[in-house]
Amino acid sequence: MAATELDQVVNLCKRRGFVYPSAEIYGGFRSSYDYGPLGSLMLRNVREAWIRTMVQQRDDVVLIDAAILAPPQVFEASGHLANFSDPLVDCTKCKQRFREDHLVDLGGGPDTCPGCGAKGSFTEARAFNLMFKTFAGPVEGSGAEVYMRPETAQGMFVNFLNVLQTSRKKPPFGIAQVGKSFRNEITPGNFIFRTREFEQMELEFFVPPAESAEWYDYWCKARLQWYVDLGIPADMLVLRPHDADELSHYSSGTSDIEFKYPWGWGELEGVAQRTNYDLTQHANHSGTKLDYFDQATNERYIPYVIEPAAGVNRAMAAFLLAAYDEDIINDEPRTVLRLHPRLAPYKVAVLPLSKKDTLTPLAHQIRRTLSERYMVDYDETQAIGKRYRRQDEVGTPLCVTVDFDSLEDNAVTIRDRDTTAQVRVPIADLLGEISARLGF
Ligand code: GAP
Repeated sequence: MAATELDQVVNLCKRRGFVYPSAEIYGGFRSSYDYGPLGSLMLRNVREAWIRTMVQQRDDVVLIDAAILAPPQVFEASGHLANFSDPLVDCTKCKQRFREDHLVDLGGGPDTCPGCGAKGSFTEARAFNLMFKTFAGPVEGSGAEVYMRPETAQGMFVNFLNVLQTSRKKPPFGIAQVGKSFRNEITPGNFIFRTREFEQMELEFFVPPAESAEWYDYWCKARLQWYVDLGIPADMLVLRPHDADELSHYSSGTSDIEFKYPWGWGELEGVAQRTNYDLTQHANHSGTKLDYFDQATNERYIPYVIEPAAGVNRAMAAFLLAAYDEDIINDEPRTVLRLHPRLAPYKVAVLPLSKKDTLTPLAHQIRRTLSERYMVDYDETQAIGKRYRRQDEVGTPLCVTVDFDSLEDNAVTIRDRDTTAQVRVPIADLLGEISARLGF
C-alpha cells in the first residue's frame, strides 16, 4: 500500500464517521481522536473479537475491569515511576524537544536537529516520565497524587490474589482486561497509531516457571494467528524478537507482532516474558504474599507471566489499512473495505428499492427482525447502485434489497460486498441465509 493510501483511509474515516479529530470546532486537540457512529461500533467489534478468542473460547482465562486511577504505590512497586521514561533532548538553537531515539526517524541525524537542521545543538538527554499525574480530592499537593495507568497490566497483578481466590483457577491461567491507558507520548502521530489516550487489550498469563518458555512460544503463535483469522494477510505481519536494548524494565524477552503500515513495519502487539518481576515487586512493596501453593507437588512458587499486550485502536488501524481496496465494478471504480464480518460496523444493510410507503413497512419489518441479532443499517435514499457503494465503502458484508416483487413473492435479494453477486431468498429463510454467509 502506498503512503498516499494512508491519507485515503484517514479521509474515509473522517467522511464516513469512523474517526474524527478531537475538539475539532476549537481547532483540534493534537493527536487525540474521537470515534464516530461507525468507528465506535468497529472498536467494540475489535474488543469483542479479542474477548471472544481470549476469554470466551477458553477455560483458563477470566476477565476483569480495574480502575484507571491508581495510587503512587502501585507504580513505585511496578517500576514505572523510576523507569517508564523516554530520553529527551532539546535543540539549543530552535528550542524544540525530541525523543533521542526518534531523531533519525524524524528526518534528522543523531547529531542534526530535525527541526532546524543545526548540528551538535542538542542538550544531554534527560529522562521524561510518560505517566500522567493528577490529584484526587480538593487539595492539590503531595499525598493527593494519583496516576492514570500507563498499561492495564498492573490491575491484573494487584488483583492476582483476589482472582485466584474467587475464580478457583490455578496456573497456568490468565487474567484479561480491556480498557483505556494513558501515556504522555512525546511524539504521538501516524493517525490513531500512537496517541496519548488509547485502549489496550492485555492478558497476563500466569504459569509455573518451568513452563514459561513453552507458553511464550504458544502465545506468540496464537496472537499472530488471531490477526490472520480476522483477515490481515499473513505477508503483512511478522514476529520480531526485541534486541536486548529495547526490552522494557520488566521483560526478559519480548517479541513484537509487527504490521506493514504505509510508513513501514511497526509494532501492532507485544508478547513479553515478564517473569515473576511484577508479583515479586508488589509482594515486597505491599507486604502481601502473591504466590501459589501447588497442593499436588506441595510446592509454593511465584508464577511467571507471559503477556500478550495489544492495542484496540492500533488493531483497528491495521484492520482498516489491510481491508482498504479499490476496484472496478461494471466499469465504475469503487472503494471497498474488505473487513472481516466480525469487524464490520454493520453486518447487513436493508435497502428498499423505493421510499414509497407501499414498500417501506416491509423493509422496516425486516430491519427490525435482523436487528435482534445483528447491527443493521437502513437506507432508503438515492439510487440503489449508489447505496450499495456507500455500504461497500464502510465494509458492510451484505445488503438486503426489498423490491416491489417482494410484496408478491415474499422474497428479497441478498447482495454480497466482495463479489457483488446477488441471490433471491425467501424472507422466511433470510436470517438463516445471512447467518450462514456471515459465519455467525
Ligand atoms: N503491558 C505491556 C505494554 O503496555 P506496550 O508494548 O507498551 O506493552 C502494548 O503496549 C500495546 O498497546 C502496543 O503494542 C500498542 O498496540 C498499544 N499501545 C501502546 N502505546 C500506545 C499509544 N501511545 N497509542 C496507541 N496504542 C498504543
